[in-house]
Amino acid sequence: MSTSRSSASLRRPAYPRMSPADADRLRSHLTRALGDSKVIAGEDAVFAYAGDESEQEPVLPDAVVLARDPRDVATTLAIASELGAPVTPRGAGTGKSGGCVPVCGGVALAIVGMSAIKEIDRKEQLCVVEPGVVLADLHAAVEAEGLFYPPDPNSLKLCVLGGNVAENAGGPRAFKYGTTRDYVLGLDVVTADGKALVVGRRTKKGVTGYDLTSLLVGSEGTLAVTTACTLRLLHKPESVATLLALYPDIDTAMRGVAEIVGGTSGARGLVPRCLEVMDGTCVAALRSEGFGVDERAGALLILEVDGDVATVERAMEEVGGRAADAGAIEVLAAQDEAQRARLWEARRQFSLVTRKLARAKISEDVVVPRTELTRLVMTVRAIEERHRVRMLTYGHAGDGNLHVNFLWDDPADEPKVELALEELFRAVVALRGTLTGEHGVGTSKAPYLALEQSSELIELQLRIKATFDPKGILNPGQIFPRRGHGSC
Ligand code: LAC
Ligand code: ZN
Repeated sequence: MSTSRSSASLRRPAYPRMSPADADRLRSHLTRALGDSKVIAGEDAVFAYAGDESEQEPVLPDAVVLARDPRDVATTLAIASELGAPVTPRGAGTGKSGGCVPVCGGVALAIVGMSAIKEIDRKEQLCVVEPGVVLADLHAAVEAEGLFYPPDPNSLKLCVLGGNVAENAGGPRAFKYGTTRDYVLGLDVVTADGKALVVGRRTKKGVTGYDLTSLLVGSEGTLAVTTACTLRLLHKPESVATLLALYPDIDTAMRGVAEIVGGTSGARGLVPRCLEVMDGTCVAALRSEGFGVDERAGALLILEVDGDVATVERAMEEVGGRAADAGAIEVLAAQDEAQRARLWEARRQFSLVTRKLARAKISEDVVVPRTELTRLVMTVRAIEERHRVRMLTYGHAGDGNLHVNFLWDDPADEPKVELALEELFRAVVALRGTLTGEHGVGTSKAPYLALEQSSELIELQLRIKATFDPKGILNPGQIFPRRGHGSC
């Protein structure tokens, strides 16, 4: 969890909490049912379960449950349901939208103790994992079997599968391979009233009943708690190559993106597995971290291709050629695995690196149709100038998914950051984009949901929520704008 967190109360509503007497009752019921070793209480002890990697202020839960198996999850939810206590499921706390911040207190339900890889089936190309498995450990385990699990959020060394499923995590490889939802075949879950359910399938195909698996993936812990995930796997690509294309400025880099995906010339679009962009402020931040990026570069693209050896060679030529034709200063190929790793380490650490640039930072993850990327970049520049807010932009350009960051030092700047933020969201919706591509709505974007979705659509989702969780105890305060007392 970050320590340099904003004091921003950006559109943060007041959330109701349980009374001290009810919180006491909750703790004693949990301790009686689960034993002392699985229940944590006390302000200092629960602080580690209060926040995430967003700018949302941490909020202390009234108790933390360290679940070791699905029975602990079921017991916790049954008690919470009976007492009407909020429950916020929690993975590794790497989320970026406040999704595991227990804003109404109650129970923080930690699932990282359920961390077994239960099965890897080479023949069926699937695995079954508990929700506390760290993503990088899963990558290593399946790759040792010649298999491949593509989703790769940049927190992969820390984040866990339960959180990935809750947020439908993406990452650089989503450009070619899609996001977590595309790999979840089925889920074992516990519903808000403590009942275990098996949702989905193990087979490649299956259309029995409603696709509740897809609904649960990305539901941000508001519908059920995952206790096991059945995941589809691919064969590991034989070969991978990474290119770095340097550009004088972000506009030229965006021309490179358009050329590669076939946007300007109408040529057949290429699908490298990653197509990442960084603007000039990001490149400067990289330099200050000791990465010797060419002084002429005011933006860059990281491009990665995979496949069999011959395919990779051809794809490198094609992708590199188009990147160069768009006006690159230079296109460099990583010469070996160590260079590739160093490049990705720089990219994967980037969110943390940019935290050092100011006292406070908001990182958004808006998405626009790819043909509107240049207009989005122009809009960001206009917002930056109009509101005099420091901004920087990087992200998954291939998906039209950019991390537009707002940086500020003085708390007095918060109102103008808020204005700039809302202007960004309005512009994204006007470009027929969406507010969040991978971080989720959480608490941080809940106040803005109605900019994108109609009241009828929000009402329908609230009715779905009420069907799964009639008492409204699961991760209250997330996704939906708060309306009056009691909606927590
Ligand atoms: C990234 C995170 C912020 O792409 O999603 O670095
Ligand atoms: Zn990202």
